[in-house]
Formats: sequence, C-alpha cells, structure tokens
Amino acid sequence: MAIQMVDLRGQYLRLKDEIDAGIARILDTTQFIRGAELDAFESELSGALDGVGTLGVANGTDALQIAFMALGIGPGDEVITPSFTFVATAEAVGLLGATPVFADIDPATFTIDPDAIAPLITERTKAIVPVHLFGQCADLDPILELACSHDLAVIEDTAQAIGARYKGRAAGTMGGFGTLSFFPSKNLGCYGDGGAVLSPIDDWLAQARLISNHGSRKKYHNEVIGVNSRLDAIQAAILRAKLPHLEAFTAARQAAADRYDALLGDMPQISVPTRADYGTHVFHQYTIRVHGNDPAQRDALMDHLKGHGIPSYVYYPVPLHLLPLYKDDADACRLGDMTHTLQAANEVLSLPMHTELTAAEQEQIADAVRAFFAG
Ligand SMILES: Cc1ncc(COP(=O)(O)O)c(C=O)c1O
Repeated sequence: MAIQMVDLRGQYLRLKDEIDAGIARILDTTQFIRGAELDAFESELSGALDGVGTLGVANGTDALQIAFMALGIGPGDEVITPSFTFVATAEAVGLLGATPVFADIDPATFTIDPDAIAPLITERTKAIVPVHLFGQCADLDPILELACSHDLAVIEDTAQAIGARYKGRAAGTMGGFGTLSFFPSKNLGCYGDGGAVLSPIDDWLAQARLISNHGSRKKYHNEVIGVNSRLDAIQAAILRAKLPHLEAFTAARQAAADRYDALLGDMPQISVPTRADYGTHVFHQYTIRVHGNDPAQRDALMDHLKGHGIPSYVYYPVPLHLLPLYKDDADACRLGDMTHTLQAANEVLSLPMHTELTAAEQEQIADAVRAFFAG
C-alpha cells in the first residue's frame, strides 16, 4: 500500500460497523435536517470539550461567518487574523464587508504573535482571530488580555486543533467563540463538509443558532438576516461514531509525531515542530522547516520524496497578505513586517500524518529525507 498523506479509507474500515450503523439509522428515520441526531452530537461534543456550548453548522468557514455575524461585524469594522493560515480565516470577514488585518506569527509555533497584534488595533478593530494552526494553540492568555483591555471579541479558529489544550483548557472554548471544521481530513472528520460554532456564552451561542437557521427560532417567523448552515444529520451520525475515538486518534497522531521527532530531530538541515510548553499539540499536520529561507530547496525535497512515492504538502506557500485577493489592500496589509510569515511560507513542508500511519512507513519517509540531504 502506497504511503498516503491522509488515510481516510483505512480509518473507515477500522470503524466501519459503527459508522455504517449511524448512517443506516438516519436513512431509517429520514430525519435528515437537524433533529435528534444533531442534538445528541452537539451534546456529546460539548461533553468532549469541557462543557462548552456547541452548534453544528455546514462547514468551518460558515462557522467563522456565523460567529462574525453574531457579533454584528460589518462594513467599516476590522478583524485581526494571522497572515499564515488558510484563506477561510479571513474570507468571511470580507464577505460581511469588514476588513481582515494581517499579523505576523511566532516562528516557533506558526501561530499569531501576540506582540504583533497590539500595533494593529484601531478604533475600528472589533475582533481578533487566533488560529490554532497545525494542531497547536496560539498563546492565548496575552491575546485574551489584550482583547479584554480593548473590548474586542476573540474567535478561536480551531479548525485544525480539536482536542488540543492550552494550560489545561480545551482549544476553542476560551474566547467568546470557537469554530471547528469537520472536513474529512481534519482530526475529527466527517464524510463531506461539516463544522461547529462553540461558545461559553449562552446568549452568543443562541444568536449564532438563530443566524445559522435563516434567522428564525420559529419557522416562518424570521427575526434577523441569517444563513442556511446546518450540520447534516448523516454527518452528525458519522461524527457521533467517531467522537468516542477522538482521544485515541489524538494519541496515534502524537505517537507518530514522537516517532518522526526521533527519526528526524538530529538533522541540522531541518527542524521538527516545536511543542510549546503551555499546551498540547494534536498534530493535525507534522510540519518541518527546511532551513535556508529558500522555497526552491524545500520544493526540491518535496520532489525527491515524490520520486520515492512519498507525498508531502506545503501549507501554506502564499501568506494571505500576498494573495492577489489582498495584496493591494492597504488596510489589510498595513503591517509591513511579516518576516516570520514569509520565512515560514518558504520553509514549511508537511509530512504524511494520520491515525493509520505505521512506524515502518515513517522509517521509509525519514530515510528518503536523509537521502536527499546526503545526496
Ligand atoms: C485554519 C482553517 N480555518 C478554517 C477552515 C475552514 O473549514 P472548512 O473547510 O470546513 O470550511 C479550515 C479548513 O479547511 C482551516 O484549516
């Protein structure tokens, strides 16, 4: 079997009976939209995340949009996000007529640098969106303090970090809102699109729930402009089958990360991921740096691995502030210094990481990495 970046099929075959039973249950009841299955999933998800309020929605991008809408973010407002993230983090800000403003990252963790945020705050700033990139939390306490002193909301983009902890607290539960993605390759993935909004504040979650369902609590009595964004019952059933395994999924990823560290950690040409001492890393990605700040060298390693039948991927080659979409937006890109973001985009390479990865496959991957630098 060829080495894969993510092995969805292997995991499915292992859990097939539980997953198939969940899907069959929905086909049997034909309760496809909302209903008891989604209610049950929301409550089980809450149980897994320190009791935070949960709302199942159609995907992680909608989760962000719904959180922004619940906060009333709109034209003239600004939202601070890292530049080194997937575009979805900033996309919904623009959809609502507001402006994302990009901050640099901490080079050790690839997450937003709390010190880069303060200079970007103006009277138009409404929120900060730290992204728990690759499975590790941003350093939240200084961000929460800054937000508190400037009366800003914090929305934790937790698409890549379900199950991670920050000083003992669950990722996604510490800001006013947290958002999850259940995209198939995520640490808890469904079999299509899915996402969730999290909030410890009942009124905020109620507002998000209202917005996610056409702005109506009672059918045909719409109160505000909303969207149609609900987690399908079939996806909820799949996620209910997988959620009890989340801790084991995380442990498998962490064990694989430990093995990679042992195999690659002594190589001077690369660095393995840093694990911040403030929390746990759930390794959505295992992302190395190829030293030298030279994307050609990193891409050459990627090509070499490909030649040996080993997939790898660059998350993300173009920081948001350089995308055609944003590069001419003087407000969004007003922080000139993006040193760490630029270097990360030039150096990062994510190696295969999933719950089914074997030690033998990792040895093969490590041998190929070593051979590249020896050659
Ligand atoms: C950091 C981040 N934010 C948001 C999203 C959006 O999630 P989705 O693909 O479910 O819309 C993703 C996932 O792809 C992501 O990685």
